[in-house]
Amino acid sequence: MKIFLVAGARPNFMKIAPIVRALKAQSDPQITQITRIEYKIVHTGQHYDYEMSQTFFDDLELPKPDFFLEVGSGSHAIQTAKMMIAFEEVCLHEKLDIVVVVGDVNSTVACSIVAKKLLIEVAHVEAGLRSFDLTMPEEINRIVTDSISDYFFVTEKSAIENLSKEGRPKQRIHFVGNVMIDNLFYQLKRLEGEKLSQFPTYELKKDLEKYIFLTLHRPSNVDSRETLLGIVEALKEISTEIPVVFPIHPRTKKMLDAFSIQLNKGMTLLEPLGFMESLFLWKDAVMVMTDSGGVQEETTALGVPCLTLRENTERPITVEMGTNTLAGNKKEDILTCFWQIIKNGKPGTTIPPKWDGKAAERIVDVLRAKSPS
Ligand code: UD1
Repeated sequence: MKIFLVAGARPNFMKIAPIVRALKAQSDPQITQITRIEYKIVHTGQHYDYEMSQTFFDDLELPKPDFFLEVGSGSHAIQTAKMMIAFEEVCLHEKLDIVVVVGDVNSTVACSIVAKKLLIEVAHVEAGLRSFDLTMPEEINRIVTDSISDYFFVTEKSAIENLSKEGRPKQRIHFVGNVMIDNLFYQLKRLEGEKLSQFPTYELKKDLEKYIFLTLHRPSNVDSRETLLGIVEALKEISTEIPVVFPIHPRTKKMLDAFSIQLNKGMTLLEPLGFMESLFLWKDAVMVMTDSGGVQEETTALGVPCLTLRENTERPITVEMGTNTLAGNKKEDILTCFWQIIKNGKPGTTIPPKWDGKAAERIVDVLRAKSPS
């Protein structure tokens, strides 16, 4: 059997890394040639800067992609269309059984549509998550991808419920756990063996008695001046209490410049970080503030308090069982939530079911069970 693994944006790289590892482990002599999965990696080029792409391939020990589509940035329509054209070309030259897509970015939906129309099966890793917020481009990507997928690999029970309500056949929904957490546990172990002083932020971390780690990039937070200003004003107040370390996404940098919004000296601005250095910093933070999806899950798994700068989450398990609090993006709400978390101290967290580092193995087992074509 032959499959493609598709990745395009930062969080995708983390999700395919454990799957690649599980596929590499097929050297087991028990696995016959017939059930062995042959795989190729397709990088759409949605993220392309060194800090947004290559660093992740290096950090995550990912092999060089077999295909690099070089689509780059653009409006949603332009980016998605370019991916579809380039990906179709690649698919037409390969005899494929399954295209595996991960997460909810434009690369996910673009490549699913292309594959399905070429009668290639689609497997969606992280299927079924719903924020029920259609102003979020990722929600559209999730719904469209799930509407044509053949395999649904899910991370939490809400996803099973959502897919069932949408009429997806039960036998195609596989509760495998969370590849993001597979990657986290694996990299955490590697980090223990690393020489930490190699990280450029080593001295910064040593000098700060405590700090908050911030990530911010969602269009709904950074593309409007009023919203971004409100968030920055809250952060200015917070950073007079506890310093804020802020590796900045290119979109956010562009918008801060365009709106002439200044940060204060309690906030340390950094270039985007690779996976390992980012983990090195956030795992010991007093709190993580974020609008990312995956970070809500990773902080839950390590018991780090997480203040999410969003009104909703497609990952409700992180609020029910984990360390996540939804604060929204208004200045007063962020500050109220911040003080609440500080007052409450480190929250209790329970690691959600099947977030045990073995999701990728389960995915590969399900794929291998597909009868050879
Ligand atoms: C994308 C995903 C989002 C994910 C995020 C992770 C979609 C719809 N959004 O958002 O779900 O959380 O990735 O980072 O797929 N840019 C660069 N260098 C790069 C990449 C982007 O400078 O390597 C700049 C460009 O100006 C671009 C902007 O960032 O216009 C946004 O990039 P894009 O990939 O469109 O969306 P993200 O905001 O990164």
